Amino acid sequence: MKQGKFITIEGGEGVGKSTQIAGLRQNLISRGYEVIVTREPGGTPRAERIRELLLENSTEPMPASCELLLMFAARATHVENVIRPALERGAWVVCDRFIDATYAYQGGARGFDVGLISVLEKAVLGMLRPDLTILLDAPVEIASARARLRNQASGNSDRFEREQQAFFERVRTTYLERARQEPNRICVLDATQSPEEVGAAIGEALRARLGKAIGDSG
Ligand code: TMP
Repeated sequence: MKQGKFITIEGGEGVGKSTQIAGLRQNLISRGYEVIVTREPGGTPRAERIRELLLENSTEPMPASCELLLMFAARATHVENVIRPALERGAWVVCDRFIDATYAYQGGARGFDVGLISVLEKAVLGMLRPDLTILLDAPVEIASARARLRNQASGNSDRFEREQQAFFERVRTTYLERARQEPNRICVLDATQSPEEVGAAIGEALRARLGKAIGDSG
C-alpha cells in the first residue's frame, strides 16, 4: 500500500489556519483520498489532556522546559497512535501545527536551546517529517487583531494568546527563517489575502510540490 502524504499548516495566531484546513480537507476528499485532519498539541485523547495543561491559565508558572517537554510528550503519543498508522495505511494527514511550531514558539520566542529541540525531534519523530508545510504568514498587528476578535467572541484567551507582541514577532521571524532554510518543504503564503485567494494558493502549492502524488499533471 502506498504511503499517504503528510501536510502541516503553520503560522502565528489569527492567520486563518482553520478556514484553510477545512478547504484543504474538502479538496483532498474530492480527489478520493482518505483524509485525517488533526492538530497539535492534541490529536489523541491523551494528547488533548496534555493540550489542556499547556493552554490553561494557571497561577503555577510554567517553566520553559516543562512547556517544551509537554509539547513533545503530546507529539509522541500523537505520532505513534494517529499520524504514523494513518500514513502507513495510505491516508493523507493534514495537521494544524507540528514540529515547526516548536522551533518557532519554544525555540525562537521562548529562547529555548535549538540543539536540545533537535535532539528531542530525532527521539520523537525518527525519520518522520512533513512532505509539505504551508506557512500562513501575516504581519503580527493584522493577525493579532483577528485573534482578538475571535477571542472576544469566545470570551477567553489561552496562555499563549496572552503573550505580548514581541513574542509573536519572534514566532514569525523564526518561522520565516525556517522557510528560507527549507524552501522545498515549507511554502510561505501571504495570509492577508482573502480566504479564497489563500485557498487557491494552497491548491497551487499542492500541484507544484505534490503534483505526481495528487495525480495532477497541471
Ligand atoms: P492552536 O491555538 O493553533 O491550536 O495552538 C495552541 C498553541 O500552542 C499556539 O499558541 C501555539 C502553541 N504551540 C507551541 O507553542 N508549540 C508547539 O509545538 C505547538 C504544536 C503549538
